[in-house]
Amino acid sequence: ISLKPYNTFGIDVKAKHFISVENIDDLKTIFSTEKFPNKFIIGGGSNMLLTKDVDALVIHLNLKGKKTVSTNDNHVFIKAEAGENWHDFVLWTLKQNYGGLENMSLIPGNVGTSPIQNIGAYGVELKDVFESCEVLNLDTLTIETLSKKDCQFGYRNSIFKNEAKGKYIILNVTFKLTKNNHNLHTNYGAILSQLETMNVTDPTIQDVSKAVIAIRQSKLPDPKEIGNSGSFFKNPIISTEQFKELQRNFPEAPHYVISETEVKVPAGWLIETAGFKGKTFDHYGVHKKQALVLVNYGGAKGEDILQLSKLIQKTIYRIFNISIEAEVNIF
Ligand code: EPU
Repeated sequence: ISLKPYNTFGIDVKAKHFISVENIDDLKTIFSTEKFPNKFIIGGGSNMLLTKDVDALVIHLNLKGKKTVSTNDNHVFIKAEAGENWHDFVLWTLKQNYGGLENMSLIPGNVGTSPIQNIGAYGVELKDVFESCEVLNLDTLTIETLSKKDCQFGYRNSIFKNEAKGKYIILNVTFKLTKNNHNLHTNYGAILSQLETMNVTDPTIQDVSKAVIAIRQSKLPDPKEIGNSGSFFKNPIISTEQFKELQRNFPEAPHYVISETEVKVPAGWLIETAGFKGKTFDHYGVHKKQALVLVNYGGAKGEDILQLSKLIQKTIYRIFNISIEAEVNIF
């Protein structure tokens, strides 16, 4: 079957075998049979670039459901199953007036893949609201609980991208959300000005969500209309010395100081300055409004997009002496 509907880049590659799984017992059965030695898990398909047909059993993780696990005076713990759509889940929590996810509104993908790259936006990361997750250990076929500490979250990074790669399937995630005294994160410049535009002076969590949605819609392409995987690259973190050197040639370079020795530079700015913003090749290119996003206008091959990403990396290195790393998983 074609995997086109299962990846937000909209790449038309085929899976040799395909199954959509709705419960953990079926998942265990699949992993205990020897019939399909090669398996490939797909969740929301929002952070992958498929470059060729998948010679494996593709398992679409479709576990659904959400429930309150416990609650106290200030917090509520909500467990959501891996196959829940991220943004629908965010909207549901906001409807209950639970705070914490509002800055991460409209991020494509599913709940189950959110810990892998520690998704984040507008000053908040998944790790800020993450309590624990349950995983299926693929060696023992038992269910384990991983704490925040176990997951080793970093900037767009976690244990699931490193030593635990391929070891577990994330089954569900438990979030620690606020019930009252919501802790608003509006210090991210674009949010404040958006709230102003909306004439909101005393914002609620729902207002912050609306502001984030408006900002994202104004510069990020909707995968339902234009295939994409959000930021294709990570923002590089460089040494303070290297940054000073960059500033000599590019005094206007935007940046965030991370520590006394490290500075993060927006890859979107590097790519734009290198002249790639809005560049279109046959059916693919660099998004017009946010250079960090590569897009498939329809019918592009994964390999074409991969080659474009390599050209961008090479050019950035040549101009700025900075290596940028793909954020998207390439298969
Ligand atoms: N910029 C440019 N040109 C561009 C894009 C950005 O000059 O084409 C400059 C902007 O002017 C600004 C800076 O880069 O000074 C930062 O831009 P922006 O606020 O749009 O955020 P970003 O660093 O490009 C990151 C995340 C996004 C997230 C936004 C908002 C990464 C890899 N990306 O992008 O996450 O939505 O911040 O918090 O960290 C994703 O991971 O898929 C994603 C979309």
